[in-house]
Amino acid sequence: MFASLVSLAVAALPLVSAAAAPKPGIILIGDSTVEQNAGWGPGFCNDTVGLATCTDLAVSGTTVISWQHQPTQYNAALKACTVPNTFATIQFGHNDQKIYNTSVYGADLTAFAKLIKTKGCTPIIITSLARRNFVSAHVPDDILEPYALEAISVAESLGLTYLDLHQASLTYITKLGSTLSYEFNYQGTDHTHLDTMGQVYFGRMVADLLIAKLPMFKSFIVPNATMTKAEANGTL
Ligand SMILES: *[C@@H]1O[C@H](CO)[C@@H](O)[C@H](O)[C@H]1NC(C)=O
Ligand SMILES: *[C@@H]1O[C@H](CO)[C@@H](O)[C@H](O)[C@H]1NC(C)=O
Ligand SMILES: *[C@@H]1O[C@H](CO)[C@@H](O)[C@H](O)[C@H]1NC(C)=O
Repeated sequence: MFASLVSLAVAALPLVSAAAAPKPGIILIGDSTVEQNAGWGPGFCNDTVGLATCTDLAVSGTTVISWQHQPTQYNAALKACTVPNTFATIQFGHNDQKIYNTSVYGADLTAFAKLIKTKGCTPIIITSLARRNFVSAHVPDDILEPYALEAISVAESLGLTYLDLHQASLTYITKLGSTLSYEFNYQGTDHTHLDTMGQVYFGRMVADLLIAKLPMFKSFIVPNATMTKAEANGTL
């Protein structure tokens, strides 16, 4: 009688701990450099396995502010954040840069990250993907750095995890050089958006940055050591 009660209790344990720690989910919030058509989102989600969700809610052309006026994606994000253990990556800057200075951008990002946290998600700030503009073969012409630094400062002041995709992508394209970097172009001389190959390569970069900062995600990322090494070495 006692023995069977004990074994019942032991058998029930894994169920209890599984319920206490639901599988993590990730939603991706951002602009065109993240979204499904020409951003790294699909490449990243294809690198994941076993997450509760990996949902790309990025919208082309948006700033931190204007994304919040996209009812479909905004409402989907709020709904996703009601599910425990959901993380929300937040990456803007490309469009903000065109209309707001870094102080305004920083204030907008701070308010938005706080909102997302209030709604139940764990925010992860990601700095902007570098544009593939060059002054010469191995010298990029980058103007996004002040916005990347601002995003990092916001993350630090709120105690949030951040992934410095701007620095990682800038380092990579510097080594690659302009000619090979242009292989990621969505089309023609579009040096911002990503073709399928670019989506795969920068999706991998984000996955690698994520597990470097949050090792708990390691078991949810399918490794590709060849691509990780290529990105470190500055090759394709
Ligand atoms: C992601 O996976 C889907 C389904 O296999 C595939 O159709 C799509 O091309 C992949 N996208 C990228 C960027 O890897
Ligand atoms: C940034 O823009 C805001 C709004 O236009 C303005 O009030 C502020 O003075 C600007 N800050 C800097 C440092 O230029
Ligand atoms: C891993 O990446 C390499 C390119 O670096 C690619 O050729 C290969 O198909 C990838 N492997 C998988 C399983 O996706």
